[in-house]
Amino acid sequence: MYNNIIRREKVIKNNPRKSIHGQWSSKLIFIFAATGSAVGLGNIWKFPWMTGENGGGAFVLIYIVSVLIIALPIMMAEVFIGRHGKQNPVASLKYLANESSSFNFIEVDKSLNRVRSKRQSYSNYDDYSNWQLVGWAGIIAGILILSFYSVIAGWTISYIFKAATGVFDAISLEQSQRLFNDFISDPEKLLAWHTMFMIFTCYIVAKGVRGGLEKAVKFFIPSLFFLLICLAIYSMTLPGFYDGISYMFIPDIAKIDSNVILSAMGMAFFSLSIGMGSLMIYGSYLSDKSSITEVTAIVAFADTFVAILAGIIIFPMVFTYNLDPSSAGPGLIFQTLPIAFGAMPGGSIIATLFFILLFFAAITSSISLIEPAISYMVEQYSLTRAKATFRMGFITWVLGLGTILSFNYLSEYKFLGMTFFNLLDNFTSKVMLPLGGLLMAVFVGFIVKRNIVEEELKLNTIIFNSWRLIIRFIAPIAVTLIFINGLI
Ligand code: PFF
Repeated sequence: MYNNIIRREKVIKNNPRKSIHGQWSSKLIFIFAATGSAVGLGNIWKFPWMTGENGGGAFVLIYIVSVLIIALPIMMAEVFIGRHGKQNPVASLKYLANESSSFNFIEVDKSLNRVRSKRQSYSNYDDYSNWQLVGWAGIIAGILILSFYSVIAGWTISYIFKAATGVFDAISLEQSQRLFNDFISDPEKLLAWHTMFMIFTCYIVAKGVRGGLEKAVKFFIPSLFFLLICLAIYSMTLPGFYDGISYMFIPDIAKIDSNVILSAMGMAFFSLSIGMGSLMIYGSYLSDKSSITEVTAIVAFADTFVAILAGIIIFPMVFTYNLDPSSAGPGLIFQTLPIAFGAMPGGSIIATLFFILLFFAAITSSISLIEPAISYMVEQYSLTRAKATFRMGFITWVLGLGTILSFNYLSEYKFLGMTFFNLLDNFTSKVMLPLGGLLMAVFVGFIVKRNIVEEELKLNTIIFNSWRLIIRFIAPIAVTLIFINGLI
């Protein structure tokens, strides 16, 4: 028993209450970095494709509802865990669990006649540390997502070169579709771009948060927003604008089924980067003075804004060129956008700029996908960042080969009706992230002592209680029901 006390005291003392891996230089940089993680291929590549595949407006409606009542409250919980724990996700979860369980014994220590409850609190020690498994699951989810994310990001690099060399000039729909299909059926090319993207990611990650990431996000976020707004204005001039907008914003309630709901919820988790510890690790770099509520709300708003903007850009194009929104799949933006770029004056310059920015958007997300694994290895095994990055980067790169082959040689090999890529994408978005988010909500709602959370969030009582109600009951129940329904 006494060993346990000593062990627990050590754990509590070990939390430096000051991040051991540096801090953002300002609140704005956290907002930029978290937005950089959230805004990525998910918003511009995946959101329009998923919207098309899941019936348009119905999907968008449920997506927005999921962001507001499930994803944003869980996002606050995730950032809270990181900022309070100030270490990698595994260690932060462990620290918080032990801190909350130890409150018992500090209280009971004062009165010697409450030995029973004291004993109970000691024996809970190991149960509480099981929460670190959530951190582990997150690390694995990040690696799995990055393995296919990097392949798609590789497509954007290739499209930068295609755009710059005028390949899109006056391109027709058939030509654009052929260009894309020829490209993805060539595994060597995909491998080359995937490798290049992983090298970029690892290079930035190896340099550390302050060095690499801050510089990248400061420049890219504002530029990406600006270019997207310009493109949305261009889309307004297209003949299919009205049809595209109606398709996106007028929900056809009849199309809502359990799969649409599960897909929209999964998309919300994926797009906001929650449920796997990325935001936990970014939260651990956040200074204690910043308001978690304020920064997470800004990030969630910016992310949703970009996804909607991407839809406003893509769907008018889809309707102008008579494409079927539901069947284009992951190739949607790579087939539609080139036609629009090819038809506008100065198109190759705008297209080059667009794919460069998409590449930046992808890289600031990919960094956050691998960062939980890196910080864990550095803090736990005292590896250098470079070594940790090399090892994790290599594992991710190898896994990416499966995705590459699922677009060509292995496209006919299906498991549960899905290719390797579809399986990874569905499993991570629809199972791992929502489950991770659910467990984080339950953890903060039931395991962490209320006063610790209250102190950290600094909300007024009514808002705090409503938020706590959501993360204790509404979000976990909603996620569980959607999950069970979707799986059946
Ligand atoms: N949110 C990113 C996107 O929309 O592209 C992808 C992502 C990043 C998912 C980080 C999950 C994550 F932890």
